[in-house]
Amino acid sequence: MRVAVLSDVHGNVPALDAVLEDMARQSFDAVVCLGDHVSGPIDPAGAAERIMALGAISIRGNHDRWVLDPSRRAEPWSVDVFARECLGAAHLDWLGSLPATASVGDAVFLCHGTPADDEAAWLDNFYNGRTTVLPSEAEVAREAVGIVHPVILCGHTHIARTLRLPDGRLIANPGSVGMQLVRGTPDAHYAVIEKRRGGWQTMLIGVPYDAEAAARMAEANGFPGWGEAIRFGWAGPETLG
Ligand SMILES: [Fe+2]
Repeated sequence: MRVAVLSDVHGNVPALDAVLEDMARQSFDAVVCLGDHVSGPIDPAGAAERIMALGAISIRGNHDRWVLDPSRRAEPWSVDVFARECLGAAHLDWLGSLPATASVGDAVFLCHGTPADDEAAWLDNFYNGRTTVLPSEAEVAREAVGIVHPVILCGHTHIARTLRLPDGRLIANPGSVGMQLVRGTPDAHYAVIEKRRGGWQTMLIGVPYDAEAAARMAEANGFPGWGEAIRFGWAGPETLG
């Protein structure tokens, strides 16, 4: 079994198109998309159209909730409001239909942050300025209690990372397709997981694309902080909003 894993597209259509082009040269048994699909200053509707057409197993992220209802957040993010204004009724209906978690058969469990919380960082303790710190083994394992699938996929932190629990379960975060933070690379990231004779293996993939053009689109839409993050891939989330 071979699965393409996309997360955190954040409306970055040029990045998504580069990933889809890379995927088109391969074959997959399933495609999964782990949320934060449209919130961003580039092309939220274009991202929704492409992901809806993928036939992927998709779940919702925290920003998908906030795009549906920006007032859920004490201080609404302006990109969530921008994305909502760009979307049509069909896009919003699709977004509203997405579950918080899902699975691919008995093998793969999908969540955005952790199985219990789409705002919680799992494999990274989230950001400290322009870097991240790693959680302890106990902290990671605690969030996986009760999940029986051999593979658990998460997103949210935008940091590609994979680890194996002592019991053999694989946890993988593919990173972000459309918004690189504190990585030092603008490349669009996704992952491929594959069941091989020795078990489930992960490929974390960075695809170069025209990030300069994407950054200019963000800036033209009034989001200079996103422009910098998209162009260089070093910014922290405090740059956005
Ligand atoms: Fe995200």
